Amino acid sequence: MRIGVLTAGGDCPGLNAVIRSVVHRAVAGHGDEVIGFEDGFKGLLDGHYRPLDLNAVSGILSRGGTILGSARLERNRLREAAENWHELSERTGIDALIPIGGEGTLTASRMLSDVGMPVVGVPKTIDNDINGTDRTFGFDTAVGVATEAIDRLKTTAESHQRVMVVEVMGRHAGWIALESGMAGGAHGICLPERPFEVDDLVKMVEERFARGKKFAVVCIAEGARPAEGSMPYEKGAIDQFGHERFTGIGNRLASELEKRLGKEARPVILGHVQRGGTPTAYDRVLATRFGWHAVEAVHRGDFGKMTALTGTEITTVPLAVGVEELKTVPEKRMYEAESVF
Ligand code: F6P
Repeated sequence: MRIGVLTAGGDCPGLNAVIRSVVHRAVAGHGDEVIGFEDGFKGLLDGHYRPLDLNAVSGILSRGGTILGSARLERNRLREAAENWHELSERTGIDALIPIGGEGTLTASRMLSDVGMPVVGVPKTIDNDINGTDRTFGFDTAVGVATEAIDRLKTTAESHQRVMVVEVMGRHAGWIALESGMAGGAHGICLPERPFEVDDLVKMVEERFARGKKFAVVCIAEGARPAEGSMPYEKGAIDQFGHERFTGIGNRLASELEKRLGKEARPVILGHVQRGGTPTAYDRVLATRFGWHAVEAVHRGDFGKMTALTGTEITTVPLAVGVEELKTVPEKRMYEAESVF
């Protein structure tokens, strides 16, 4: 069998671990050939690929990023891939494709699967917002980076009696903010799933100062929004998927808190540092398991599916389930974190 693999969308720690695992299982386990397409679906369409053998993936388990390169999708080019699938498979000689990616990539994979392409997707994202899987790899690493940042911000905040507002990634889901906020003991956590009241944050900081704790750290998701009328707020433009574009909420909240509290507040935007560097052991293991099971699914002919973590087991679920909605933080998880505003 000849299996194609590609990584598309934003990068994420653990991508190389999946590629390595696919190659190990396919080549060493089944005697397959594996080729890696460069820069996501673009490589598939343009015929840019290279053979991946055991030596090609040696030493990449712990490396961040992706040895194949990644690119976001161009919708018209995807249509091109769907329309020319038979020609593409003849040209590249692949019997199955394993695309590794987030919501956009899995949506594209579903589209390709619907026109008969034998696809098994592997979900990836630091945001942990893919439906149908309990976890995505990359998330644990991102939460670790954000947690360390909160720990570090607490000491400098305390030295200067400041409020620190740390903005973390996560798109329209608050998983990274929730879990890093809990792990770092942030005094305030703001999530996209629940508009926050600025008055409540002000009250929290004032109470802390009143009892002698003269600093505070607020962890805010990039997609968080203030409750209607709770602070001056100009909404972001709506993107092609119907989501509001991010508006730099960390900066805005820090200046609003500074104004209302009369105390120094500093914004810290963590940004892509959360996606870079070496994956944690947890992410390496999950990514390796996903790669192994994706190859097994290919050999079973279990196409149109993606790998998923269900409890402690790796399963496959229809791509349609993965992309039908974003997995956001449920109310019950917010109650467990006492500082969600
Ligand atoms: O989906 C992963 C992610 O890092 C989000 O958390 C973030 O909103 C987005 O990608 C950033 O995208 P880009 O790399 O295009 O700036």
